[in-house]
Amino acid sequence: MSSSSQIAKLQLGDQTYELPVRVGTEGNRAIDISKLYAMTKHITLDDGYGNTGSTMSTITYVDGEAGVLRYRGYPVEEIAERCDFTETAYLLIYGELPKGEELEKFRTNIRRHTLLHEGMKTLFAGFPPSAHPMAILSSVVGALAIYDKDSGDPGDPIQSEMAIYRMLAKMPTIAAFGYKQSIGQSFIYPNNSLTYCQNFLHMMFAVPSEQYEMDVDFVNALNLLLILHADHGQNCSTSAVRMVGSSNVNLFSAISAGICALWGALHGGANEACINMLEGIMAGGRNLGKYIDKAKDPDDPFRLMGFGHRVYKNYDPRARLCKTVCNRLIEKYGGEDPLFELARELEEIALSDPYFIERKLYPNVDFYSGIIYRIMGIPKNMFTVLFALGRVPGWIAHWREMHLSPTNRIHRPRQLYTGHTERKFVPLIKR
Ligand code: ACO
Repeated sequence: MSSSSQIAKLQLGDQTYELPVRVGTEGNRAIDISKLYAMTKHITLDDGYGNTGSTMSTITYVDGEAGVLRYRGYPVEEIAERCDFTETAYLLIYGELPKGEELEKFRTNIRRHTLLHEGMKTLFAGFPPSAHPMAILSSVVGALAIYDKDSGDPGDPIQSEMAIYRMLAKMPTIAAFGYKQSIGQSFIYPNNSLTYCQNFLHMMFAVPSEQYEMDVDFVNALNLLLILHADHGQNCSTSAVRMVGSSNVNLFSAISAGICALWGALHGGANEACINMLEGIMAGGRNLGKYIDKAKDPDDPFRLMGFGHRVYKNYDPRARLCKTVCNRLIEKYGGEDPLFELARELEEIALSDPYFIERKLYPNVDFYSGIIYRIMGIPKNMFTVLFALGRVPGWIAHWREMHLSPTNRIHRPRQLYTGHTERKFVPLIKR
């Protein structure tokens, strides 16, 4: 899927080295430095990996300048309109849209594994009610390696397939059980006659004592949000899954690492941080100018949450879809939402401010997703859990792609050491 007809020349002292230029299918280019150290005894340095391609991948194409996102070549807007989340998961993981019987088999295989081992319930019982659901999620997903030992070998295709079904199937159950534990309600077991999204809402919101009426617009909104979060190339959490998975550890452990990476406020945690920010602005008298000034002040660590992106230097296409759904839900439920009004105003001010224009800072997927979750009655500390639920197919797709690659080897970046040169040891008594 890549060619190397061009050569880049590197001049180091009086030596010239030739490096192949790899060209991706969308015309994107990379100088292949994989042999650079062997040739020159030099490494490249790129703090934060902003300019480093860690792999070749056929899964997701992001053009940050143009605001384009495609899954396996299909525009995310079209996938969001025409697929459900499980079908999207199949596409991401296996590379093609499934035929009817393939999709049915995939759904059945997932349904068969929605239950957790009963022993896992004691894990939930051990967590204090104040535990953040992302901490619970990463712990319990990691613990799947204890209970599902027969799917732990990434080199065995049958075990890998089993791990994929189990991971997709058990994630909503773990997420919902964590929530139920935190509010002191009994666990609601999965109902396999429901769809993936219906089942999750059922396990989150049903109680044993009465019938749960499911709002079809909430199911659709959840389906959309999970699809929009399903993959995004080599982001922080996906890179974590690949990095950890490259040691040949089981899928559950690799995904547990991805969940931890996603939790941070600069990544998936931004949806929760964004609502906290909007509520703070509201409580502080709606002084938008003050917050815009804080965001622009280089001496103030405050950043406008839900704004900016390492790759998008244009409107994030996922944010546009989220904004449309926000509008639709708000119209259906009363016609106004003060936080949505505030977010829209903040966006308008930021997008006409030279600071944000010059830096190409636009709303990202997290700016409006939290408002949708609030309308659906999902508590703030579950927002990032829902992001994780959506990202599972992407993490699996990258884990699988990595293991199927003939060039796969353990990920091991180098460093430019800038510490002390060798020093004489000073005994404790003389320090
Ligand atoms: N508010 C104010 N200023 C910002 C923001 C922001 N949200 N984001 C970037 N900037 C500024 C930076 O201070 C920097 O300014 P400078 O050139 O004067 O130093 C410039 O824009 C470039 O920003 P970087 O820090 O280089 O951007 P980076 O690619 O490292 O970070 C990130 C991207 C982490 C997303 C950043 O934009 C941010 O912190 N945003 C807020 C958190 C957020 O919404 N995260 C979710 C990202 S989407 C996702 O993970 C699903």
